[in-house]
Amino acid sequence: MKIAIHNREGGFTERWVTYCQQNGIEYLLVNCFENNILELFKKESITHLMWHLNHASSQDLMVYPYVMNAADNMDIKTFPNFNTRWHFDDKVAQKYLFESICAPLVKSTVFYEKEDAIKFLNTSELPLVAKLKRGAGSTNVKLINSKTEGEEYIRKLFSEGIVSTATALGNFDQKLRIAKQIKDPIKLAKKTIGFFKKNKRERSLANAEKGYVYFQEFMPNNAFDTRIIVVGEIAFGIRRFNKENDFRASGSGKLDFDVSKIDLETVKIAFNVTEKIGGQCLAFDFVYDKNKVPKIVEVCFGFSMKAYDACPGYWKKDLSFVAGTFNPQAIMMENFLKE
Ligand SMILES: Nc1ncnc2c1ncn2[C@@H]1O[C@H](COP(=O)(O)OP(=O)(O)OP(=O)(O)O)[C@@H](O)[C@H]1O
Ligand SMILES: [Mg+2]
Repeated sequence: MKIAIHNREGGFTERWVTYCQQNGIEYLLVNCFENNILELFKKESITHLMWHLNHASSQDLMVYPYVMNAADNMDIKTFPNFNTRWHFDDKVAQKYLFESICAPLVKSTVFYEKEDAIKFLNTSELPLVAKLKRGAGSTNVKLINSKTEGEEYIRKLFSEGIVSTATALGNFDQKLRIAKQIKDPIKLAKKTIGFFKKNKRERSLANAEKGYVYFQEFMPNNAFDTRIIVVGEIAFGIRRFNKENDFRASGSGKLDFDVSKIDLETVKIAFNVTEKIGGQCLAFDFVYDKNKVPKIVEVCFGFSMKAYDACPGYWKKDLSFVAGTFNPQAIMMENFLKE
């Protein structure tokens, strides 16, 4: 056994490496963007490949299917596996995923023709929630309150499109909040410069989203969303409260770790749906419909590592709660190597 781990900064990579070191597992840090990556897998007799895909990187999104599907073909075990990854950072793909297994997704509709989208807009109750395939932190999620607004949105998606990476100063509140956590002024300056560079590069590389429109029914009166993450046999979660005067919770930074407030129905659904998908690691976002029934709004492989370290414990499949600290990245590896 020899594990290739894609060397990504700031993700699960460091904990995966630590796990290998502590357990005497042979591993190799690799760069999946190298032209001869498959040759390297052969030469090194790689048996497993792990990649903490980065939703904010257009490069990751373009290249992961090439390398990981090819690795599957070479009988190399992959993490995330095909079932976990084919819908990664693609809300339209997720619509098909959830429909195929009859999972409780908020009613979602996609159009690939402008006229069909306009017809739908004219016969739908407003507001509607419009989303791009890509995005995190609510950047590409917006409320369509009027027909004029909806028509303009549809027109844009069937002409010049919308770049899914926000401008450097977009979502300013969120960036300011993160910046405030960095106390060392030199570190802050370095991070800020690094961020502007990265953002410029991402905006120039990201394709404009176009040729489709994706709407979800608006679920009113939700003050928070519930995020449940399933890693194999365990689940953990938080509630995220909405940004001020906004229906969107993701990106607000208002996290609540009180597990007694988490609706166990969401945990049950997350376990069930993950099993149906055949997923290794999936994060589900839930809101409530008018009848207070939890509905999924999206799913994602991967999550921000440090934020969830504050979770006070996890649930097992029988919904019993195990209090204490835990290391989801180590659990991922344990499960993966047992597969
Ligand atoms: N159909 C809906 N009805 C009501 N509120 C919604 C709906 N869909 C999303 N929201 C709210 O908007 C937020 C952002 O939506 P969503 O999770 O789909 O986007 P995202 O930018 O991909 O988020 P993330 O950062 O979690 O990946 C959610 O956290 C939720 O609070
Ligand atoms: Mg979300």
